[in-house]
Amino acid sequence: MIINIRDVSWERGNQAILSRISWKVEKGEHWCLLGLNGSGKTTLLNMINGYIWPMEGSMSVLGKRFGEFDLRELRKSIGWVSTSLQQKLYGGETALKIVLSGKFATIGLYDRTGLEDMDKAEKLMKALGCSSLAERTYDTLSQGERQRVLIARALMASPKLLILDEPCTGLDVFAREQLLQMIEGVAGQEDAPTIIYVTHHVEEILPCFTKTMLIKDGQVFAAEESSKVLTSEVMSDFFGVPVQIDRKGGRSWLSVKRDIWI
Ligand SMILES: Nc1ncnc2c1ncn2[C@@H]1O[C@H](COP(=O)(O)OP(=O)(O)OP(=O)(O)O)[C@@H](O)[C@H]1O
Ligand SMILES: [Mg+2]
Repeated sequence: MIINIRDVSWERGNQAILSRISWKVEKGEHWCLLGLNGSGKTTLLNMINGYIWPMEGSMSVLGKRFGEFDLRELRKSIGWVSTSLQQKLYGGETALKIVLSGKFATIGLYDRTGLEDMDKAEKLMKALGCSSLAERTYDTLSQGERQRVLIARALMASPKLLILDEPCTGLDVFAREQLLQMIEGVAGQEDAPTIIYVTHHVEEILPCFTKTMLIKDGQVFAAEESSKVLTSEVMSDFFGVPVQIDRKGGRSWLSVKRDIWI
């Protein structure tokens, strides 16, 4: 079991941010986490990474129960790519150094790296189509290029769990498709980590994400096979407006039915 969350809740002030969340992620599964702005996705990820603690319920991540182990060690087994991480990275650092720093899950490169690490970093950058950016500094990269570097960085420590929090934000349609292809490539590798992909957009749910969790107002709306969740009926119910889901190229495409605007 990669993640086992049981009846977990978290509040701030008097407001429930997460209410009685239960979620099981098993080895070999790749999940998509879909929900509107403010539904609680990032809060849930913060909990999985041990940055916040459940107020009720219990959870274990990678077989470790919270409160019984060193969080810094756990975080080395979790690769996390998010826009908040981007803000913390040093803009003057080269892409290669940023990828290398992923080995220690640190920001900045303080520990020594060897030839083997360099070899691994180069291979990862190649797999993510960003080898040519190795010597460029982070602040000169475009949003799409940055995301590739960050995913390569997250993979450097050979994590068991890879969390991608809205990796396609700010990408044009072609950069998005390229990045999705790279992610599919990572998911298809033999020793691939379990991937959790967070998004607002149904069309980003690649066929490799066979399971989907819908989260709404801090509660689990549905958590099961993507094929069962990604239907016009379930999604209309989820969003509270009539939408249509069409399947094309193994993916689902959502359109809002026009008559809601009248
Ligand atoms: N530390 C906090 N203090 C108060 N409210 C918080 C805190 N963290 C999160 N929230 C609130 O909890 C709700 C869920 O936030 P969260 O960031 O988890 O949403 P999200 O699903 O990731 O949204 P988005 O798609 O916009 O990233 C929001 O209303 C947010 O304002
Ligand atoms: Mg978020």
